[in-house]
This record gives sequence, C-alpha cells and structure tokens, in this order.
Amino acid sequence: MQVWKEFQEKNKDRFLNELLEMLRIPSVSADSRHKEDIRKCALMVKQRLLEAGADKAELHETEGHPVVYGEKIIDKKLPTVLVYGHYDVQPPDPLELWNSGPFEPVIKDGRIYARGSCDDKGQFYMHVKAFETLSKTNTLSCNVKFMIEGEEEVGSENLEAFVKANKELLKADVVLISDTSMISMEHPSIETGLRGLAYMEVEVTGPNRDLHSGVYGGAVANPATILCRMIASLHDKNNHITIPGFYDKVAKMTPAERKALNKAPFNEKEYKKDLGVKELWGEKGYTTLERTGTRPTIEVNGIWGGYMGEGAKTVLPATAHAKISMRLVPNQQSAEIERLFTAHFKKIAPDNVKVKVTPVHGGEAAVTPTDSIAYKAAEKAIETTFGKKPIPTRGGGSIPVVALFEKALKVKSVLLGFGLDNDNLHSPNEKYDLFNFYKGIETIPYFHQYFAEMSKNGKASH
Ligand code: BES
Ligand code: MN
Ligand code: MN
Repeated sequence: MQVWKEFQEKNKDRFLNELLEMLRIPSVSADSRHKEDIRKCALMVKQRLLEAGADKAELHETEGHPVVYGEKIIDKKLPTVLVYGHYDVQPPDPLELWNSGPFEPVIKDGRIYARGSCDDKGQFYMHVKAFETLSKTNTLSCNVKFMIEGEEEVGSENLEAFVKANKELLKADVVLISDTSMISMEHPSIETGLRGLAYMEVEVTGPNRDLHSGVYGGAVANPATILCRMIASLHDKNNHITIPGFYDKVAKMTPAERKALNKAPFNEKEYKKDLGVKELWGEKGYTTLERTGTRPTIEVNGIWGGYMGEGAKTVLPATAHAKISMRLVPNQQSAEIERLFTAHFKKIAPDNVKVKVTPVHGGEAAVTPTDSIAYKAAEKAIETTFGKKPIPTRGGGSIPVVALFEKALKVKSVLLGFGLDNDNLHSPNEKYDLFNFYKGIETIPYFHQYFAEMSKNGKASH
C-alpha cells in the first residue's frame, strides 16, 4: 500500500536508530548481574509500544523477569493478532571472538552486528514498527496485542503461570511470531514446526577430593574419563540415540511428508563451507533437513571438570560435569524424556562413580498448520513483498511458548521469521541484515490486511 511505503520510507532511519538504542541494553536473562538492564529494556519496549500507537502498555511482574504487554483494540468484532517476541538475549561470551562489542551495535556491509540483532530484538521490533505504520496511517484492520517476554532464552519458566492467569487478556485469533529463520531472501520460507527441548545437567563424582594424578592416577577412576565414556555411549554407531524408550513416541513422517520436506533448496557444499567442516554428521538414514527438522537429537552443550586455568596442573579431578540437551519432536513429552534420560544415565554409571542428574528446563515441540487462514495470510503477505510463494520448512530450534499457547489458549501460531540460519544466533558476531529488517516491516502490515480480509470471507462462507 502506498501510504505504508511512504510512511516507512520517511521514517526508515528513525526505525533503525531506535533498534540500535535497544541493542545497546545488555538484557541477558541468564545472568543475574543484568537484572536492572532487563528491566530497563522492558521499560523501553513499553514506551515504544505506546509511542507506536498502543492504547495501553504495561509491565507484568513475574517470579523472574517482567513480561511487557501492550494492545490496541479498534473493534471487538475484528480479528485479533497477538504478537509474541522476546526482549532478552543470550550471554555474549566468548567476548574475545567478537569483532566489535556485542552491545555496541555497528553496521557493516548492510548488516547490524550486535547480540540480539536477529534473536529477537531486531525481529520483534519489526512488528512494533509495522504496527506504528498501520496505526499512524489509520489502516489497522485487526486488533493488535503484544506480549514481549524477558525469559525466552532461559526457558520461559514463568510464562506458563502468566499465560494461564491472563487467558482473557491474551485472547486472540492467531499468535504471530518473528523469531525463526528463512532459507534465504531468494527462497523465502515459513517454518511450520519447532522442536521441543529437555535440558539436563549431570555431575559425576569419583574420589572425595582432587588427587595428584601421578600418585593416584591409574588406580582410581577419573570422573572426567568416565563422564566422556558415558556421553559417548549415548549414540550408537549409526548415531541413533541409545536411551531405551527414547524413540517410542516419535511421530513418524509419511513418505510424502519426507519428500515434500526434502524439496526445499539445500546446498550441502555451501552449508559445509559456511561452517568450515569437511563432513557432516548425523543419524543414519536421514537427510540433513530431516535431521534438524524432524528427528530428535542429543547434544553436549558444555563439559567441564578439573583444571581449566593457564598452563598445566597435574590433577585427577574429584568431579566432572556436563550440560546435555535433547531436542524433541512431536509427541515426545519433555517430562517423560527427562525421566528416561535420568534413569538411563544412572544405570550406565559404573560403581566407581556417583552420578547426579538435574533437569534444567524443558519445552514441547509444535507443528503449525499450513491450511489455516493465518498461514494463508502470511503466505500471501510474503508473496506480495518477495514476489514468491514461501516454502514451508521445519525448524530445528525451540520456542516453548508455541505449544503453551496452543494448550492454554487454544490458539495456533504463525512463525513469520525473517532471520537466516547463519545470522550467528547465540554465537559471536550475531547479525541481522538491514534488508531483512526492512523487508519484515514491509511485509507484516500485509499480514494484518490479508488476515482481516480472509477471516471475513472465511466467516461469510460458513
Ligand atoms: N529464536 C530462537 C529459536 C529458533 C532459532 C527457532 C532459529 C528457529 C530458528 C530462540 O530464541 C531460542 O534460542 N530458543 C532456545 C530454547 C530455549 C528454551 C532456551 C533454543 O532453541 O535453544
Ligand atoms: Mn529467539
Ligand atoms: Mn535464542
């Protein structure tokens, strides 16, 4: 629409500068030293929602970090779009691998480099600016609600209570989320599934104190070695996971579904080159797209124990630790997988060590429909601004709130993501292309327009 285009063109620089200001706040949810930064960021989101045209915006306190809620209700009879996003970010370390400060955003080669540029400040902020466009040009066609949380990167632990206590407030016809990736700008796509997660921490303890590795080494089991053996045994030679019962509930893909999934463009050579690996790895019998999109996995996220300082210290550590996560697919339940993992990990421990297993957080997988009005509206919006129909794909990441919205509010989500898999999410030098940022702001208003139009037609035809 011409008025949108004009408004966005005129305010382009301000949109970007506002995002950069938000990226300067180190809203790291995992680190309690940043509690005040988190609050500062929440207050900024609230303020920006009001400036963009929200009738109401407020902070809701939780046991953890606050949730920002905002809304503009133009007509109760019109459909309501609930925008979900998160203003918290992952820790920036290792700092030495950044080419510029993680919280000092710089623009280089048309890209914004900063922690949170893509995940998720740059992405949810597109919705704030798209909303501003609609509200300032008097072209809103749906009611809009925003729920921007501050604990996504630590498992959205307090969100369940918030959502359950605020069902009426959050009532909506669709949840719209930009926190996922597209294949590329040439191949726009929409993720139609997310994996679940079961995140565990394990501790293996051997002797009652650290020992001289010369005096005792060879006579006492080294917990670090034992832990490595135990971890290594979690995959068999085909890279299947060995935990009994782990695959029992895994939803099987039909041959037709597998075929459709593998039709998405994927260049293995480019993929390997981008990552600097000679060979890929994974479960036998599945393609890379299947391995990341539809199969469950187990990964070591961190492993430590013994001396990790400069130089050498000869020591046989008393304990070793690891953080182990499992990505889950539809029908697997995180609580059950936690139990299976715990039982198995304890069972495979030899008698020379003690094992402690602690669940850290979990979330359920989700599949979003491709035959809904909301999906069709998203498809048409992308077609309008990219000139191409988006390809449905299955994402490997997790956004636990998607399953929660479905369960608690009975409302489905559309994952209208504009990131790229190589935006370095959770890694050093996270980036977001300016092109993607502006393309998102351009596309989202069309979603609102089409969703309202198609909802009306949908109702009329029934
Ligand atoms: N935005 C990501 C999830 C994502 C990234 C989905 C790319 C699809 C493509 C989200 O912020 C995230 O990182 N989620 C965590 C889960 C959480 C429970 C810590 C994840 O996937 O590790
Ligand atoms: Mn995210
Ligand atoms: Mn993330």
